[in-house]
Amino acid sequence: MIQPFSFSNPVTIHFGEQAIAKISQSIPQKARVLLVYGGGSIHKNGVYAQVKKALEGFQVFEYSGIGANPELESCLPALELIQKERIDFILAVGGGSVIDASKFLALATFADSDPWEILSKAKYPTRALPFGTVLTLPATGTEMNDRSVISKAETQEKLAFRTPLVYPQFSVLDPTLTYSLPIRQVANGVVDTFVHTTEQYLTVVAATDIQDRFAEGILQVLVQYGPQALETPESYDVRANLMWASTWALNGWIGQGVVEDWATHSIGHELTALHGIDHARTLAIVLPGVLRFSLEAKKAKILQMGERVFGIQNGTENERVEASLQALESFFQRMGLPTRLSDYGLDATIIPPIVKRFEARKWKLGEQGRIDAKAIETILTARV
Ligand code: NZQ
Ligand code: ZN
Repeated sequence: MIQPFSFSNPVTIHFGEQAIAKISQSIPQKARVLLVYGGGSIHKNGVYAQVKKALEGFQVFEYSGIGANPELESCLPALELIQKERIDFILAVGGGSVIDASKFLALATFADSDPWEILSKAKYPTRALPFGTVLTLPATGTEMNDRSVISKAETQEKLAFRTPLVYPQFSVLDPTLTYSLPIRQVANGVVDTFVHTTEQYLTVVAATDIQDRFAEGILQVLVQYGPQALETPESYDVRANLMWASTWALNGWIGQGVVEDWATHSIGHELTALHGIDHARTLAIVLPGVLRFSLEAKKAKILQMGERVFGIQNGTENERVEASLQALESFFQRMGLPTRLSDYGLDATIIPPIVKRFEARKWKLGEQGRIDAKAIETILTARV
């Protein structure tokens, strides 16, 4: 059954080559704009110059140096700048990390206590600064959603928050901006998108045909274009389809009315927080473990994915389930992402500290709430 839902997504998308030029129409004319970006890729690939040209006539301040897996500590000086310069609009130019940091800044500007409580206690201010984004790395879907993930270096925590206050006003999606991405980031983006889709899809078969077919469409696009992006980096059609797929995988739509299971992301965040593994790479390790742990609950959907996405039709039911799981893991490997902890030089000794964190949180993850700390120990042990 499609479960009852209420849904709206207010983000305006400017898609296509040269779409950056459209941002001036979407920012209030007298705005004092804070341009937020990362470690400097936008200087090398010409995106900075395009943005500055589009912002001619606006009063623009800049804050750079937001790193991958953005940290609270690197956001705090920007909060001071926002107060000091009376910023009233943020423009985030970069990948998921820069955009998530900007969402945090937009909200934390109005925090009346420690801004980390937005993450640690879900204590949200009642308003946020308006902001827009220019996406340079398709992966997270953050450009069209209400989520953000921030880390705290001091405690090695990585936590998410979610509130409609942090939907961007607009996002620019120009596929040509992604030509300069290192192959590793392209591959990460494809796998992150794949796992966002499966976490809203690989649960139960429940007559949710519209969402299922959307999800399968996204997965098919990834399987078709992902490997092509590695071979032909500057193909507009390849980059455009991957970019639009990543937005759709996590703009809220495919998750409406369906049963979800975000266990893989929750476990993966710990591998990034404690061991610095890229976000998507943690998912490639964890997802095969979660699927095998929850096999009984997920079996029918795994078979459906196997047939519709990977074309697996022959063999007994068990053989087709196994072939489907192998096809999924092989796809990650084909994209160049290893799928075992040992591929990163990690062994079983890393598991107890992670289990302890989940014990303290008392979370029950998975579509049936069966994935507790003990289950996470089983899942990770199988992924060494
Ligand atoms: O910092 P710069 O110099 O810009 O370099 C970045 C960074 O080093 C580089 N890059 C980005 N665009 C480029 C480019 N290099 C060359 N050409 C370009 N066009 O790529 C590197 C990685 O960037 P990052 O933003 O960290 O990657 P990604 O977009 O994968 O974001 C990952 C973060 O998003 C969170 C992850 O946990 C992680 O912190 N996520 C956010 C979600 C959300 N808000 O909805 C959902 C996701 O599941 C995810 O958790
Ligand atoms: Zn993700």
